[in-house]
Amino acid sequence: MATEHASDRDDHGPGASGKSAEKGAGPISVERVTHQEVPAICALYKKVVDTQPGGLPVELLKGWQPTPLEFTSWMEGVTYFVARRDSKLIGSVGCEIRHGACHLVHLVVDPEFRRQGVATALLSTALDWARKSNAAVVWVDPLAKLTPAVALLKHLGFSEAGVLHKHMWAEDVRVFERTV
Ligand SMILES: CC(C)(COP(=O)(O)OP(=O)(O)OC[C@H]1O[C@@H](n2cnc3c(N)ncnc32)[C@H](O)[C@@H]1OP(=O)(O)O)[C@@H](O)C(=O)NCCC(=O)NCCS
Repeated sequence: MATEHASDRDDHGPGASGKSAEKGAGPISVERVTHQEVPAICALYKKVVDTQPGGLPVELLKGWQPTPLEFTSWMEGVTYFVARRDSKLIGSVGCEIRHGACHLVHLVVDPEFRRQGVATALLSTALDWARKSNAAVVWVDPLAKLTPAVALLKHLGFSEAGVLHKHMWAEDVRVFERTV
């Protein structure tokens, strides 16, 4: 892992993401995940899967539910950031460098904290990390069916590089990229 390039903590106050925090809620902070947080992050992924609307491939949903051991092994090759509000872990994204580009994986936000700028804060930190890691571009490849993710990426200025038809589990995948 390119730990030496990483920013370890970013604070994203309400102004940083352009969103208003809920009354009484603290700012969103984004930090590198620690080994102590592995159970909490696995619980977050499980919550996201349990509340996800139907119609997604079972293989995808299975892949989003790592055991603590599996997540620990993911951390070997991928740099994960987690978002917190009032010390509750509410979102996560993984960043990996492949062939000079930064690929984002496993982006999730707690369903109770959506549309509050959490993913925006996570992606802002991921873009900073990519820049510091000398990546020329950041790319993300959501299933076409994940329409909130597609809307988020467009909102954040990613451009659509193409569609891979029936690429994963016979589902279309949309490829988005943003230069850093
Ligand atoms: C996609 C996801 C990460 C978005 O997280 P979020 O914290 O709610 O996103 P943000 O609050 O930062 O959204 C920023 C902007 O993106 C767009 N957006 C995000 N979710 C949207 C939705 N459900 N519908 C339409 N636009 C949406 C909006 O423009 C939004 O700004 P607005 O709220 O002012 O309208 C979240 O819905 C999620 O975890 N989904 C399930 C897992 C998933 O699909 N992961 C992506 C894999 S690539």
